[in-house]
Amino acid sequence: MKHNETISLLLNRKSVRKFQETVPDLETIEAIVRAGQQAPFASQLYSVVYQSGGKYAFQAPLWFLICADIHKLRLFMKRRGWEIVTNGVTLLLFAIQDASFMAENMVIAAESLGLGSCFLGECSTNANRMRALVKKHHLPKGVFPVVELVMGFPAEEYPPRPRYPLDFTLFKDRYPELTEEGLTQAMAQMDDGYRAQGYYKNQNIKVKTPGREDTMSFDEYGWTEHISRKWGQWEPSPDKLLEVLKEQGFAFSEEDE
Ligand SMILES: Cc1cc2nc3c(=O)[nH]c(=O)nc-3n(C[C@H](O)[C@H](O)[C@H](O)COP(=O)(O)O)c2cc1C
Repeated sequence: MKHNETISLLLNRKSVRKFQETVPDLETIEAIVRAGQQAPFASQLYSVVYQSGGKYAFQAPLWFLICADIHKLRLFMKRRGWEIVTNGVTLLLFAIQDASFMAENMVIAAESLGLGSCFLGECSTNANRMRALVKKHHLPKGVFPVVELVMGFPAEEYPPRPRYPLDFTLFKDRYPELTEEGLTQAMAQMDDGYRAQGYYKNQNIKVKTPGREDTMSFDEYGWTEHISRKWGQWEPSPDKLLEVLKEQGFAFSEEDE
């Protein structure tokens, strides 16, 4: 595989969950967000709210809220005598993509300046969190929180975390029939990789799942079990999240409009 400085930076990035107290200065914050803006976009359908100097998740000294934003689009279209007629699903998909690419550019820009970061996805599962962020930060209609991002100078050092094998991810021409053996290898690469770091042992994960007979030890617990427990238990109904998205002006059927 080819290597250069940028690829090394990308391959060495990992989420950071312990931070020094030093607060990154405004010049640093502006460089990170300006680099974020230079991500490819569909229509710059994002805004970023930040707070610094407090203690945010994982005691980080810097916090960003990356928002999907069609408010600014609506404003300039109005000036030009246009109204948005595109459906809410299309706008939502593009706005999430714009916000996500910008957010990842910010992460990499921060990394290049010696800062670590961690995304927080609670507002995509918890409607109360999404609504609270909307209220607290005065997000107007057309704007909703996609993801929170905490940042600061790292106070922990981890090796990069594992990923699926490349041949479980990169497919030439067509999506293959995935084999049992390929699945076993991919799961093992993730689980063994996390176990080798003692990752879940350090995190005091609750190994018992309510309502299930569970005899799994921390040594057996791994990434695939961790992820299965999330999506095997969390938030079966989309209704509350859809409610907040509708309150924020995203329509998902012609009736919503
Ligand atoms: C959309 C999104 C939401 C995330 N939410 C959380 C979170 O709530 N808490 C957390 O500790 N990490 C969160 N993460 C970080 C992931 O857990 C992390 O990126 C993943 O486990 C891979 O580890 P790495 O970034 O160290 O390679 C989130 C990442 C993304 C992209």
